[in-house]
Amino acid sequence: MTVIFPKWTNKIPTLVAGAAAFAGAFVTFVVWYWFSPKNTDVGYAPVQPVQYSHKLHAGVMGMDCRYCHQNVERGPRATIPTTETCMNCHKTVLTDRPEIKKLHAAHTSGEPVQWVKVHMLPDYAYFDHSVHVHAGVGCASCHGRIDQQEVVRQVEPLSMGWCLECHREPENHLRPLDKVTDMNFVPDPKQGESFLSERNLHPPEHCSACHR
Ligand code: HEC
Ligand code: HEC
Ligand code: HEC
Ligand code: HEC
Ligand code: HEC
Repeated sequence: MTVIFPKWTNKIPTLVAGAAAFAGAFVTFVVWYWFSPKNTDVGYAPVQPVQYSHKLHAGVMGMDCRYCHQNVERGPRATIPTTETCMNCHKTVLTDRPEIKKLHAAHTSGEPVQWVKVHMLPDYAYFDHSVHVHAGVGCASCHGRIDQQEVVRQVEPLSMGWCLECHREPENHLRPLDKVTDMNFVPDPKQGESFLSERNLHPPEHCSACHR
């Protein structure tokens, strides 16, 4: 007898059904993921080894973010300042306070202060500060009113849906370039439209932009 369908083909329906179930699950996952409320770590505010206050330094004293986060316009990471930067003032300011003594100890020993990371993307997601800052997206759009925080707290989800929400409608978040660190400035969508075309901005939505 001629074998038209070899025996293994009996398994095809099962395989097809399996593949369909898998594809279905995948689609469900993607849809769920896409539209799910922004999960993640909003509210995370770890205790830091030195009680440094943004409210005091950036708020009351009005220091610019870039005085300490020196790489924020130059590369992917904003960077946390070295003890050296604090010592510009605290070599002489409030030297008798316990918190400042910790800084002096770190400075003398050369052992950096072990600041606890607050915001953190998984390794498979790529993010670059300088691109966003040069496009005119302010720190406040992603980090909130840091100048009012005693302790830094994550206020935005940093989820994929959150990234894409702005990439689809960036005009709501664009500001004059000299206002990127201004915590009081509120972006105006009308003005944002013109920044979008003037600056020729194209926030990507394709996967490989953020997953390289
Ligand atoms: C005097 C220096 C100084 C200034 C000025 C300053 N920061 Fe910071 N910043 C720090 C230090 C130190 C830390 C790490 C300790 C902490 O999280 O509080 C930090 C942490 C942060 C973090 C959290 C980092 C993480 O681990 O995820 C953000 C976001 C941040 N700063 C934003 C800002 C913004 C926005 C401004 C301007 C409004 C600003 N900073 C001004 C020193 C500074
Ligand atoms: C431009 C100067 C300047 C820089 C730079 C600076 N500070 Fe300060 N800091 C001050 C002043 C001024 C005060 C006191 C304000 C007051 O109480 O009147 C202060 C207060 C503090 C206090 C409160 C101390 C207490 O017991 O009241 C801490 C903690 C502190 N700074 C940590 C830091 C750290 C950490 C850095 C570096 C990331 C830093 N400062 C960088 C000027 C500075
Ligand atoms: C478009 C959103 C966005 C803007 C605008 C933005 N940040 Fe961030 N920031 C992030 C994300 C996302 C992370 C976490 C990055 C990671 O884990 O790779 C982060 C992390 C940080 C950190 C800690 C880690 C690091 O990069 O060294 C600091 C400090 C910081 N931001 C400061 C700032 C300051 C200051 C500004 C404004 C000049 C700013 N950011 C503007 C999204 C933003
Ligand atoms: C508040 C608005 C806003 C948010 C939030 C935002 N972006 Fe963007 N992003 C932009 C704009 C505007 C551009 C366009 C820059 C250009 O065309 O020069 C951009 C460009 C980019 C680019 C392309 C440039 C490059 O670095 O290769 C990447 C990648 C990117 N964003 C990743 C992210 C990720 C990851 C997140 C979330 C963690 C995020 N963005 C959140 C506004 C935002
Ligand atoms: C604008 C930047 C951006 C783009 C574009 C983007 N992603 Fe993501 N994606 C992220 C970030 C940021 C995370 C991490 C979110 C988190 O930590 O919650 C992520 C997470 C994921 C995850 C992991 C989900 C999980 O729960 O662990 C998958 C899968 C994924 N992305 C797939 C995709 C696919 C497929 C595309 C293209 C259709 C895409 N991404 C486009 C930024 C982006």
